[in-house]
Amino acid sequence: MIRWIARLIGIGFVGVLLIALYGTVSEYISAPPEATAEHDFYREPKELELESNGAFGKFDRAQLQRGLQVYTEVCSACHGLTRVRFGDLAGIGYKEAQIKAYAGSGNFWKIEVPSINPDTGEPATRKATLADHFPSPYANEAQGRAANNNALPPDLSLITKAREGGAAYIHSLLTGYADQAGYKNEKGEELLKKFPTAKTPTGLYFNPYFANLNLAMPPPLSSEGQVAYGPGSPKPTVDQMAKDVSAFLVWTAEPKLENRHRTGMVVVLFLMIATLLGYLSYQNIWAEAKRKVAPVGPLDPDNKAKRKRAKSKARIEG
Ligand code: HEC
Repeated sequence: MIRWIARLIGIGFVGVLLIALYGTVSEYISAPPEATAEHDFYREPKELELESNGAFGKFDRAQLQRGLQVYTEVCSACHGLTRVRFGDLAGIGYKEAQIKAYAGSGNFWKIEVPSINPDTGEPATRKATLADHFPSPYANEAQGRAANNNALPPDLSLITKAREGGAAYIHSLLTGYADQAGYKNEKGEELLKKFPTAKTPTGLYFNPYFANLNLAMPPPLSSEGQVAYGPGSPKPTVDQMAKDVSAFLVWTAEPKLENRHRTGMVVVLFLMIATLLGYLSYQNIWAEAKRKVAPVGPLDPDNKAKRKRAKSKARIEG
């Protein structure tokens, strides 16, 4: 009796679920979701080959240094890097004296660190030291928005972790600005013909790699040689500068990436050796017990002999 009641309740639940499923499916078929410009014209990030990719990846220190230069000369005007300390720059191959000169130069770090005048106790500013974090270009969010058409430039310290696609996305975004007039997607459809109302509003810039196609950041890297690289570096094309700053932002988000890769390798090696030892000790422990199991079936010596006899009787080879 109880069992029947339980079954009835079960059938009731399944019935309700089926009705709900039918409703959803029939609505999807009768009124399919409308196509949107964001859906049809958004582009997935382009592939980006970086030395730090993959399980064995290492940083290309020279590239990170160029990336820091691009950040310093271009991006730092609007974006903070507040989770990185100047002292951390030792990780991309700078000596202490070089970092001190960079942090205290005042060339780019116009905002000095808030401090207190030791003689008067009045608020003051001082030059950054190795222990200081990179400053934010704005005193607070309100100031940041006021300077950027009400959009807030995010802090870039962790941006490669915070966006799907990571460095590849940043690279595509920086190099992906396009002219919206006549813009076509991979299928050859023209954006403004298909969605005449999707025109980029004034104050925003069209970029198909940005999720809603228009963003408030003007193209930061626009001409070759915008950042003058030192001798022996590759040509500072827009693509190269975008790659370098993306590689640099992988480092800011995970400065210990190489340690992680190295530890991972050691752990895998250790597990392989442990597996081998485990297998060998298993063999060793069970060797005695297994030897006592007499073979039966086709492999049984008696059976084998019988088969051989039967075959030779019937004059079958083998
Ligand atoms: C003139 C100021 C300005 C400069 C210079 C600038 N940005 Fe931006 N950036 C912005 C603003 C404003 C936003 C917010 C855009 C939005 O939300 O529409 C933004 C957003 C971003 C985003 C986030 C996009 C997202 O998915 O939300 C990234 C990444 C970025 N900028 C990288 C850079 C890099 C790298 C540089 C240097 C090469 C740079 N920016 C230079 C103003 C700037």
